[in-house]
Parts: sequence; structure tokens; C-alpha cells
Amino acid sequence: MNNLASLMIESGVAVITIDNPPVNALGAALRRALFDRLEEAFAAADARAIVLICAGRTFIAGADISELGKPAALPTFFDLFDLIEDGPKPVIAAIHGTALGGGFEFALICHYRVAAQSARVGLPEVNLGVLPGAGGTQRVPRLAGVEAALDIMTSGRHVHAPEALHLGLVDAVVPDQTLRAAAVEFAQQVIRDGALRPRVRDKKGALENIQPALFAEFRKANAQRFRGLKAPDAIITLVESTVSLPFDEGMKREQASFEALVGGRQSAALRYNFFAERETARVPDITADIRPIDIRTVGIIGAGTMGSGIAMAFLNAGLPVTLVETSAAALDRGMSAIRRTYDASAKKGRMTPDQVEQRMRLVNPTIDLDAVGDRDLVIEAVFENIDVKKDVFTRLDGVVRPEAILASNTSFLDLDAIAEATRHPERVIGLHFFSPAHVMRLLEVVRGTQTAKPIVATAMALARKIAKVPVLSRTCPGFIANRLLAPRGTQAEALVLEGTPVALIDRVLFDYGFAMGHFQMMDLVGLDVVGRDADQRTVMGDLVAAGRLGQKQNGGYYDYDGARQATPSVLAEKIIADVARAGGVPHEPTLDEAALIGRLLYPVVNEGAKILEEGIALRASDIDVAAVLGYNWPVYTGGPMFWADSIGLDQVVAGLRQLEARHGNAFRPAELLVRLAARGERFQP
Ligand code: 3HC
Ligand code: NAI
Repeated sequence: MNNLASLMIESGVAVITIDNPPVNALGAALRRALFDRLEEAFAAADARAIVLICAGRTFIAGADISELGKPAALPTFFDLFDLIEDGPKPVIAAIHGTALGGGFEFALICHYRVAAQSARVGLPEVNLGVLPGAGGTQRVPRLAGVEAALDIMTSGRHVHAPEALHLGLVDAVVPDQTLRAAAVEFAQQVIRDGALRPRVRDKKGALENIQPALFAEFRKANAQRFRGLKAPDAIITLVESTVSLPFDEGMKREQASFEALVGGRQSAALRYNFFAERETARVPDITADIRPIDIRTVGIIGAGTMGSGIAMAFLNAGLPVTLVETSAAALDRGMSAIRRTYDASAKKGRMTPDQVEQRMRLVNPTIDLDAVGDRDLVIEAVFENIDVKKDVFTRLDGVVRPEAILASNTSFLDLDAIAEATRHPERVIGLHFFSPAHVMRLLEVVRGTQTAKPIVATAMALARKIAKVPVLSRTCPGFIANRLLAPRGTQAEALVLEGTPVALIDRVLFDYGFAMGHFQMMDLVGLDVVGRDADQRTVMGDLVAAGRLGQKQNGGYYDYDGARQATPSVLAEKIIADVARAGGVPHEPTLDEAALIGRLLYPVVNEGAKILEEGIALRASDIDVAAVLGYNWPVYTGGPMFWADSIGLDQVVAGLRQLEARHGNAFRPAELLVRLAARGERFQP
């Protein structure tokens, strides 16, 4: 018998157990097995109802994502669904873990749903650039109403079992450990009540009295969140159709929309990204026999912007943190920043006041460096100055246990030089968080020349524990993300000196999909913060000298009104013209938008190619993950490397060559890029 789905009959109920690790994805082989078991269960004389339950950590987590966009193998989702919905016996889904996407749609085709207390359901297809394509858009509104359906499907969020019960998405919630027995009992009750087989498609109550304006309002309220994305709009259109169209017509439209989205570029990019994020943890020479060290306690040196954020990342995961500063005043500032952030979260209902206090109790603030002596891991987040960092590491070396891991959050400095300041350079590693560190999901793990393999393994495993995606980098100035994106800033600054309007550069970046343009970002961060290390005359330096620090003081590249609305600044334009004149930069603005994108982003792709050929990154997809999670590169382009693949590497090389002819060597295409383009290959293997 096929072990993907097995059948047992107990007390008049057929129990079909699905077992397709790791997440019971509903791929072709499982569909076949399920189809066969269901037919057997329908034929079994001693069973009058069927329970569908999963082995392992979760209920069906969806369609097999790697099969999306390929011709559907038989039996299709719909063959299977028709068999259940119109079958002769009631079918009960018993849900634990997460019932997601096609997995939840599968549960919705069943006649009843019983969920474990800790279970979650959801339709996260939007994150893959598609919509629920197995009836979700038509069935969820019929159960939970259109407002809940819009929220659930356009956010892709997981709905906890008690809320799902409240919304009518499940029929019963039971204690976790009793799920199987409770589902069988539920089935027996269904049999006693006449073995009815209610179909979600026939339910209408939740679709009555809908305000037609609701859909336009929802679109408007979420316009910014959905900007650039195709799937949310298609979802809203389909949910709207449930109000007026018969079920079967709605299903036809859902199929057509799904097909269109799954064949498009956005979905290809987002599916790529799903697997890319999971691939980063695979490091070829860190084999399974190299065991990560269990990190239970953490010390953090420096409670500034990064130190306090990093502390919260660990507190959120329940790890105790010793936070060290040089003075009580600095420590107070750091602790107040943590408390303020948590209080704000509690105010928004994201945490309870109890949780705030629990987390605050996990911090041990101190000005005594010796206090980190017993910690498993100590992370340094002091000023970005090599001498200060070396001093901290030398002192730490004398304080911590010899087996403790020492990490630096440096953005640009030489990790090997920092490691040399200790007696155990093999236990030193870079853990480069992004600001705000408790929010941004990227963690660059920087492997120094001497870093030992178990330390690398530990850092990669730890990242997951604190809900970060680790990307492994070798040492080089800026590591992957900062080095990758630096050319975009350099080109933006060069373009303004040539006379290209600040607002035009920002607009093309915004239209490409970035949340904001380069100069808006600089103004937001603060020009004094970004430009403080410049060693030559720059526009930013002159703006700061003129008292323009960005949004926080007198405007920067832009002027700002009371509502922080940016308008072009005559003063900034004059400063730009002065700096250009002093530097002898010819006035030759670039006004063509496609040319601007090439100028700003091809150098990023080129830098990515260099990062790859130098072995700084393990793979092109790691670079994309770093760009998306570290710099909010629009995820629906896949990242710079995937984007370059999708427009063609020959086009990127041709663009760079043109720029090289006009502006010089900085644009010379990397050898790897030229080689791949010449062979008609891509970065993605
Ligand atoms: N298809 C194929 N592989 C999947 C998968 C899926 N639906 N879901 C997870 N996997 C794989 C992952 O790639 C990973 O593989 P790896 O170990 O080889 O890297 C493995 O399963 C474990 O996944 P995670 O590391 O993500 O495990 P977690 O425990 O952290 O999370 C999860 C589990 C919450 C289920 C998470 O994996 C998840 O969100 N999965 C995607 C769910 C989803 O998007 N479902 C919708 C699919 S599209 C669909 O159903 C279309 C339909 O409408 C027709
Ligand atoms: P910050 O200036 O906000 O904080 C540094 C803190 O370290 C200060 O509070 C200071 O009092 C403290 N400090 C200095 N010497 C110390 C010592 N010997 N012992 C204990 N504490 C000491 O700086 P920020 O922005 O937090 O940066 C810290 C590090 O993180 C730097 O290496 C920086 O490059 C890096 N980084 C910064 C990012 C950012 O966006 N701000 C992003 C990623 C990394």
C-alpha cells in the first residue's frame, strides 16, 4: 500500500492519514494516493464517515510550490475535490499545525473541519504572486463574509484556530493531543445525526447585505500596501464576484485569474524567492555532522541604535540578554528605547502588557563588562571604529569562557583584524543585523578567514531561532548587502551633479518598486548620520554645513512641510550646482527613465556578479535574498540577480558597456557577467 496516505477503519469511521514530509504538500503523488484511499473508504461497508488527518508537524501546507506553473498531473486538485464534495459519505478534516493555501482549500471542500487548539489556517498564495486557485476565493467569503475574506487572502496571514472558529472557517476546536479521537467522535456524531454532507458552496448567509462600496474602499485604503503587486487586485475582484455570481461562474473566473498570475513574472519571482530564502541556510562545507552549539544566553556590548534592536531580537525569542554600556546614561537611553518600542507594540495590541514585562525582565543592563563572562554568545555593537572594536574584543577575550562565541555587528570593518585582537580568532564571527534589528529579517553571517565551522553552523541555526534569514558572507568591505547597493547611491549622487533632478531619480526608483527613492531615504535617515565619514566635498556635506540635516532639521535634498510632504528645494539645487561647478562636472542630465534605471541598477547587478565571482556570496539567490530583506528591494522582481536574468544578461552587459564608454571604468562589466551573457546563460543555475 502507498504510504503517502493510509487507511484504517475504527468504530465505523474510515481514518485516512496523510504522510508526506516535511509539510504534507499536496503534490501529484499525494493526490493520487489520496484519491485511491478515498475511493476505498467510500467503498468500505464498515465505514459511514471519513476523517482526513495528517502525520508529522502539520496538516497539508498547500499545493507543492515547485509544481505551480507546470501542467497539472492527474488527478488534479479538482478531480480530488469533486470526489470529496459529491462523495457518498461525509468527510471531516482534522487540522493540526498549519492548513495553508491548497491545504486549507482542501479542508474547505470537506463537509466539516475540526481543528486542534494550536492549529492555524490561511491562504498565503498572495505571497507567491498568485491567488487561492482551488476555490478559496469563492468558499472563504461564503463562510466568513467578504471583509474577513479580503483581509485573510490579501494579507496571507495565519488565522489561529479560535478566530477561525469565530469566523465560521472551522466547526470545532479541540485540545491538541485529542485531535484524532475528537475528530473520530465528531464523525460518529455526524453519522448519528444522519450523515449530512453540507457543502460550503451552498452557504449564502455571509454574503447577504454587502455594501457595494466596500470593495473600492478596501482598494483605496490598501493602495500603498498593494502597490506594484498584481495578485491583491485579482483577489479583490474575485471576492467581489461572490456577491453577484453563481458559484460555478466564480470558480471559472478564479481559475482564469490563477492561470494568468501563475504564468506571470511576479509569481515566478516570488516563488523563486520562497525557495531562495530557505536555500540560504545550506552551506556546502557545513555538513550535518557539524553540530551547532546551543546558545542559551547572550551578551550585547553597546546599547545604541543597533545594540538595543539586537537585544529585542533575542528577547522576542525568549533568550536572556546582558546589555553592557560605558555609562549609566547611555544604558538608560538604550533601555528606554527598548521599553518604548515594546510599549508601542502593546498599545497597538501586538503584545500584552504581561509580555512586555516578561521581556523586560529578561534584560540585565550593566556597565560592567565582566557581567558577560558566563554568556554563550557576546555580540559587539559599539561605534564603527576599528580601534574601539579591537579594544572591546581584547577585553572580552579576557572575560568570556574560552568556548564562548564572539560576534561583531560591524558594517564595513575587517572582521579578520578584529578577530586577531583575541586569542581565539576561530571563535569570532560577524553577525551583521540591519536596522531596525528587531524588525529586519536579514542577518548577514560573516565568516572570517579563521572562523571555525561549528561557529558558522551555530550562527546559521541561531538566525532561525530569532526569526531571521541568515545569508553567509565572506569578508570584504560592506559584505554582501551594503557592498551590493553602494553603487546605486554612488550613481544617484553622480546623476544629480550632472544635473538630473533629485525628484526624477527618486521617482524612477519608486516606480521600479522601492518604497522610496535614494534621496528621500537619505533625508529620512539623516544626512549627518550618512555623510559623517566623507573625506571630500559632497552635496551631502554641503547640505549638512548649511544646517540641512534631512527631515529632522530644515530639510535636506528636499524641503518638507508640517506633514512631512517633500517638495523640490531651491536651496538644495543651488548647493548641488555649486558642488558640480567646483568639481568641474559637465551639465549633462539623464532624463530618459529607462536610461536612469540602467544607470542606477545595472551597476548593482555588476557588483553582485563581482561578489559572486570573488566567492563572497555562495550563490546568486543569496545575493537576492540580501537585497530584498536587507534593502527592501522589490520582492516581486526577485532581487537584482533574478531581475537581470529575466531581462537578459546580454542587455545588462550592453548597457554597462555603453556607460563605460561614456563614464569610465567603474562600469566595466564583471568577467562572470560577460561570460554568462556570451553563453546565453543566467545567474540562476
Ligand atoms: N510546497 C513545496 N515545498 C514546501 C511547501 C510547499 N507548499 N511548503 C514548505 N515547503 C518546503 C520548504 O521549501 C522546506 O524545504 P527544505 O527543508 O528543503 O528547505 C520545507 O518544506 C520546510 O519548510 P519551512 O522551512 O518553511 O518550514 P517551517 O516549519 O518554518 O514552516 C510552513 C512551515 C508554515 C508550512 C511554511 O513552509 C510555509 O509557509 N509554506 C508555504 C505555504 C504556502 O505558501 N502554501 C500555499 C502554496 S500555493 C497553493 O496552495 C496554490 C493553491 O491555491 C492551488
Ligand atoms: P550608536 O552610536 O547608536 O551606538 C553605539 C553605542 O556603543 C553607544 O551607545 C556607545 O555608548 C556604545 N559604546 C561605545 N563604546 C563602547 C564600549 N567600549 N563598551 C560598551 N558600549 C560602548 O551606533 P549604532 O548605529 O548602533 O552602530 C553600532 C554598530 O553597528 C556599528 O559597528 C555600526 O557600523 C553597526 N551597524 C549599524 C547600523 C545602523 O543602521 N545604524 C546597521 C548595521 C550595523
